[in-house]
Amino acid sequence: MKGRVFSGMRPSGRLHIGNYLGALQNWVALQEEYQCVYCAVDVHALTTVQGEATKEIRSDIREMVLDWLAAGIDPQRSILFVQSHVPEVMVLHTLLSMVTPLGWLLRVPTFKERVRQMHETEEAVSYGLVGYPVLMTADIILYKADTVPVGEDQLPHLELAREIVRRFNHIYGPTFPEPQPKLTQAPLIIGLDGQNKMSKSLDNQVELAATEEETRQRVMQAFTDPQRIRRTDPGRPWVCNVYSLHKHFNPDKLDWVYEGCTKATLGCVEDKRLLAEGINCALAPFRERRRELEAKPGLVDEVLRDGASRAQEIARKTLSEAMERMGLR
Ligand code: AMP
Ligand code: TRP
Repeated sequence: MKGRVFSGMRPSGRLHIGNYLGALQNWVALQEEYQCVYCAVDVHALTTVQGEATKEIRSDIREMVLDWLAAGIDPQRSILFVQSHVPEVMVLHTLLSMVTPLGWLLRVPTFKERVRQMHETEEAVSYGLVGYPVLMTADIILYKADTVPVGEDQLPHLELAREIVRRFNHIYGPTFPEPQPKLTQAPLIIGLDGQNKMSKSLDNQVELAATEEETRQRVMQAFTDPQRIRRTDPGRPWVCNVYSLHKHFNPDKLDWVYEGCTKATLGCVEDKRLLAEGINCALAPFRERRRELEAKPGLVDEVLRDGASRAQEIARKTLSEAMERMGLR
């Protein structure tokens, strides 16, 4: 055993190929060597979801966990649980907030971006949103994890987590390891709009669990090289996100696509059809497994109940230790 892995995802329903290529494939692979703890972070969801919309959180958790299981996360070997089922994390969050300067949080680029997206001012957003990375730090260090598989967008949060840990350890003595990110070969997947990070909120995603027909329809809407207007115009694969996606789903056809695109012998419509086929072919075993898992009533609840009790055992110990260090025990 090397060490411990922790990672989390906000429950936003079915995952997309960006989540898989950027993070989930590492979640699966790391199970070979590490003890892995994977969390559906429902409390983090409350930083942006409010009121009526919170009724979706529970079904979103179920959809997401089915994707985890279908992708090969093994609930016997790894711990899968829901963040709010182990409330110790919220206590640790409060304790960590005492050693985190507000300036650090206000400088996080994802915070500034989120405030902009919400059309709010920094004064008006919730205290919880400012503390997002503190709760994320609490998630990780409650399990004393040293390795955190995530996509590139999470790097600023992990940098802050290391700073908080260093400060805690400096003030109260060595207690927590500094968590290091673990990226995949594809840490940032661009969406079908060809411009932004693939994300459900931007509706530019291809869901892992989509049907073959849905996948075809979505991929056909993808943007290609904007300078390629007529079928006879040569394309520039190096600016085309459809070409980037071929690298993952049609690696054996890359040279052929490159040549066809640059010489205008392959049109964008045909190119996208080929990509949809590649995605459908690569995801067929995943989709088959997911259908089998969906048909098992109670499976997800059972996995999450068992996960929460295993997670809580570790969490209680770490929390007592932190409280002791801080003079509370
Ligand atoms: P989220 O759905 O934002 O909670 O993301 C879950 C995990 O997937 C995180 O580790 C993200 O960094 C990763 N992720 C999300 N979107 C992408 C993307 N477009 N490309 C690569 N990784 C991503
Ligand atoms: N912030 C992460 C995201 O948006 C989710 C998350 C919460 C997380 N806690 C974590 C990721 C701990 C890694 C480790 O995707």
